[in-house]
Amino acid sequence: MNCYQIEGGHPLEGCLAVQGAKNSVLPILAACLLAPGRSVIHNCPDLSDVAATLDILSLLGCRVDRDGDTVTVDANGLCRGEIPDRLMREMRSSVIFLGALLARLGTAEMSYPGGCELGPRPIDLHLGALRALGAEIREDQGCLCCRGGRRLRGRELCLSMPSVGATENAMLAACGCPGTTTIVGAAREPEIVDLQNFLRAMGADVSGAGSTAIVIRGGRPLYPARYTIMGDRIAAATYLCAAAAAGGEVELTGIDPNHLSAVLACLEEAGCEIHTRQGGVALACHGPLQGISPVRTAPYPGFPTDAQAILMAALAGGEGATMFVENIFDNRYRHVDELRRMGASIQVAGRVAVVSGVGGLHGACVHSTDLRGGAALVVAALGAEGTTQVCGLKHIHRGYDGLDRCLRQLGAHIEHIS
Ligand code: EPZ
Repeated sequence: MNCYQIEGGHPLEGCLAVQGAKNSVLPILAACLLAPGRSVIHNCPDLSDVAATLDILSLLGCRVDRDGDTVTVDANGLCRGEIPDRLMREMRSSVIFLGALLARLGTAEMSYPGGCELGPRPIDLHLGALRALGAEIREDQGCLCCRGGRRLRGRELCLSMPSVGATENAMLAACGCPGTTTIVGAAREPEIVDLQNFLRAMGADVSGAGSTAIVIRGGRPLYPARYTIMGDRIAAATYLCAAAAAGGEVELTGIDPNHLSAVLACLEEAGCEIHTRQGGVALACHGPLQGISPVRTAPYPGFPTDAQAILMAALAGGEGATMFVENIFDNRYRHVDELRRMGASIQVAGRVAVVSGVGGLHGACVHSTDLRGGAALVVAALGAEGTTQVCGLKHIHRGYDGLDRCLRQLGAHIEHIS
């Protein structure tokens, strides 16, 4: 059995430096393909999604090295544009390589990224944006055969919804398009700003990230760069919700509190004391969490869908009721059944889930259903009475660098049982 064994009821205390952002490092590693030479990425978390991304870069001909939290990518040797089905299945967000391969190599081939635990994960917005830039994309029996290179030209693109991945793919492809590309209806997530900052470090002319209109003046020569990844706002939300569930006082460093505003507002309304400063946030919680006004997930700066399960887990052991509306993904309540095994009272109808705090959960043996659902079970276990075993750690290892180690540093009684 490979699980976390957690003894609940111990308040969390202390200070923790938050890992680098998973959802920044993946597109930034793809962006390394845009220039020959060695890019150096600092604050790179040790995650299975990062390892899968490095495997793909190696397979495409790059030389990758890792020394602690520093990853080096030498894209001089880029010679292939085909990503095998095995690796696409391992990580569906590998579609992010498409734009960079079309810009640098002029060709890309990959299988359709399938759905995942969160439901269907369409890529129509990615393909529409790349075709609008001139890419020729043939969909043949589940395989995407793409041609870019000299066909690419900058132009105005409109995204019908602010897709994070489609925005990133369009930005990367546009760097290889002579002329000006304007992405209208762009996603505004902080990870998009991090990608813009890395592209600028490579010599790209990109502006507007963080707003709904991003402008790229492409076709310029690009150079490898050194860059430090921003802190992971969802990992930070996880540790704050853990402290809210277990009680205690924690301080997080290496995170921009402005990236967490929506989550901090919910935790404050639930009864936590929050203090923010540049590069950090502190939370104190000394009583049961209270129900809060409806939590509706939305594109940034709205409440992040990735924090929905985590906040729900903390509130489930509190008092009072809270309604959640999951507006981004179709199947993001899979953690509810597992929380019910711990005594949670949660009613689900379509996109709506109503959590009625039961004043405390109890330990159980539960299984992770997906990355953030698994983290939610750990959060619930920290505040529960008794011992909980959380299995299915492969999901958690995709996005958390030493979740158990970090929680032990804050005083949690959590062990990894192999
Ligand atoms: C990114 O996924 C994140 N992943 C997700 O984090 C995050 O939940 C999501 O953005 C929303 O914030 C990475 O950055 C690697 P989207 P992405 O394209 O880019 C629909 C985590 O837990 N859509 O913004 O795939 C889609 O079905 C992960 O760290 C289309 O319809 O998200 C979804 O309903 C989970 N057509 C919505 O848009 C498309 O072409 C948002 O998707 C693309 C997306």
